[in-house]
Amino acid sequence: YRGGPLLGIDTSCDDTAAAVVRGGREILSSVVASQVALHRRFGGVVPEIASRQHLLAILPVIQQALDEAGVRREQLEGVAATYGPGLVGSLLVGFMAGKALALALELPFVGVDHLEGHVASAWLARPDLQGPVVVLVASGGHTELFRAERPGRLRHLGGTRDDAAGEAFDKVGRLLDLGYPAGPAVDRLARRGRPGRVTLPRALRGSDTLDFSFSGLKTAALQHLLPAVRAGLPVEDAAAELQQAIVEVLVERLFEAAERTGARAVAVTGGVAANQGLREAVAERARRHGLEAVLPEPALCTDNGAMIAAAGHWRLLEQGPSPLEMAVDPSAQI
Ligand code: KG4
Ligand code: ZN
Repeated sequence: YRGGPLLGIDTSCDDTAAAVVRGGREILSSVVASQVALHRRFGGVVPEIASRQHLLAILPVIQQALDEAGVRREQLEGVAATYGPGLVGSLLVGFMAGKALALALELPFVGVDHLEGHVASAWLARPDLQGPVVVLVASGGHTELFRAERPGRLRHLGGTRDDAAGEAFDKVGRLLDLGYPAGPAVDRLARRGRPGRVTLPRALRGSDTLDFSFSGLKTAALQHLLPAVRAGLPVEDAAAELQQAIVEVLVERLFEAAERTGARAVAVTGGVAANQGLREAVAERARRHGLEAVLPEPALCTDNGAMIAAAGHWRLLEQGPSPLEMAVDPSAQI
């Protein structure tokens, strides 16, 4: 592997994603087949449906990524695929497709941790980024803080003890009848609402942990927010309070972590990083602290193959290929 076109594959959850990236930084193509419409009527990802859909989509998605990059299979220098964490049936499809392709083309294969991929997206967004960076990965499945010197050099600082931030948006948003996933609707409504008319808890505030806890939000919403909405509180105000309750703790911990670890920059990624309130709060606070804020465009924040190829690039350079016996690990931890 010499840093030429690398194929990156991610099928950790409900998106079938493949991309071609050169040198860990230059995205030649990135294709994502979303399954969200299939899972919508169940109000969440159904693992069995997800893996079946990955099976249907994986080869066309890989082919499209190659076509859009203008790269022939023979020109690839390696294949990277997510080994975990994620849904086992989903992971298996992309991981095995990646392995099979690498074997057939006699290319180096590298297994990548999904969260390491999310962290690498900060460098896709800002190729000359200088670490140390504190990266918040906040999605429907994860809420984790890492300190990264550079892609692949990470230390886990903290994470959620129960629900993920996106899960909190989705669960409370569902109580408010905002559809699935509810995060984007909450974001839209919150812009026209006023927080604080009913207060939701900010869990673990004031303790010196870098962990998160969001599971109390749903109970609190059932007990206080929902009755208030039924009694006439505008849904915009309910959305604004929900968003504020989540964003405040995310931002507090992110900057606490940056201060404790002497970071020069902060980055936010994962689906929740599309949230306008979060992006504004992070940008504003970073200005005050004299830190650089990296807010990748939403397509780089949500699950994609480019971040896996980027992380795979560094793994290949520093550790070499993974053994072909390597297995998926649904509960992988960095
Ligand atoms: O990264 P992602 O696309 O998928 C995984 O969870 O792996 O993240 C989806 C999550 C959902 O919980 C969704 O509600 C949330 O990200 N989300 C948002 C916004 N856009 C997506 N949450 C708040 N505000 C948004 N604008
Ligand atoms: Zn993800």
